[in-house]
Amino acid sequence: MASIGSTLGTGGGIRIRRVDPHDAMPLATMISDSFLAFNQSVNIPPHVDGFTLETSRDLMKHFTSTPTMYGVVAVEESSGALMAGGFMYPGDVYAIGPVFADNAFKGRGAGKAVMVALIEKVRSENAKSIRLCQVAANPISFGLYASLGFVPVECWMDLEGNVTTEEASSANRSCGFSPVTGVDVRRMEEADVKCCNELHKKTMGFDREQRIRMDIPNGAAWVAVRAGEIM
Ligand SMILES: CC(C)(COP(=O)(O)OP(=O)(O)OC[C@H]1O[C@@H](n2cnc3c(N)ncnc32)[C@H](O)[C@@H]1OP(=O)(O)O)[C@@H](O)C(=O)NCCC(=O)NCCS
Repeated sequence: MASIGSTLGTGGGIRIRRVDPHDAMPLATMISDSFLAFNQSVNIPPHVDGFTLETSRDLMKHFTSTPTMYGVVAVEESSGALMAGGFMYPGDVYAIGPVFADNAFKGRGAGKAVMVALIEKVRSENAKSIRLCQVAANPISFGLYASLGFVPVECWMDLEGNVTTEEASSANRSCGFSPVTGVDVRRMEEADVKCCNELHKKTMGFDREQRIRMDIPNGAAWVAVRAGEIM
């Protein structure tokens, strides 16, 4: 494992350094291939919790050029090749992710070195806690996170697919839900972030402003509005 000093670290043939915008394209290929390989290994359809090359490019461009994102890469000292990467961002609760290793370098300690570097950075900022998410089917990342002291806190489900209006009404009826009326769902805009964050604080007890804002550029953030107010 790489040791982490004030200038990040070197050890075990692995050097850890901060990401820079030039890393965006190689990291996009790496993250896309890395998650795809894992998904295929456990029969998760490629589009579920996956990163296409196109979405990965946007994400990595955004992550490597956003000053509040803290990213590191693991580099093989002998060849200079990128082995793994990972990101962290601050908030009331700090968040780590995504963390990923190049398929050619998996199992060589690079993922762990990246995690250690990110945790060191969080510790140096006296954060109260760190959160991360992982797919239940991945015992490798689970082993990695557990060995670094993370404990499972909650389980959540990601449902993906298209539902017709008829199917939605039928599902609502069978669950005994009344049809929702007067609610408009639209894409989130920057002007909504403050309000959404207040809502998050009220329901979850902590701030997630940066995370909420993060999905606006790729159109993945939505709001439900009733009578002009975000619900
Ligand atoms: C999870 C991932 C980042 C780990 O990176 P890696 O460089 O392959 O892992 P490392 O070699 O640093 O090993 C770290 C730990 O993972 C676990 N691990 C690694 N390979 C493993 C395997 N084949 N079986 C079981 N556990 C394994 C071990 O706990 C290991 O720690 P140890 O060496 O102290 O025992 C990498 O597998 C990956 O990119 N997976 C796809 C993307 C992903 O799922 N990311 C995590 C969710 S955000």
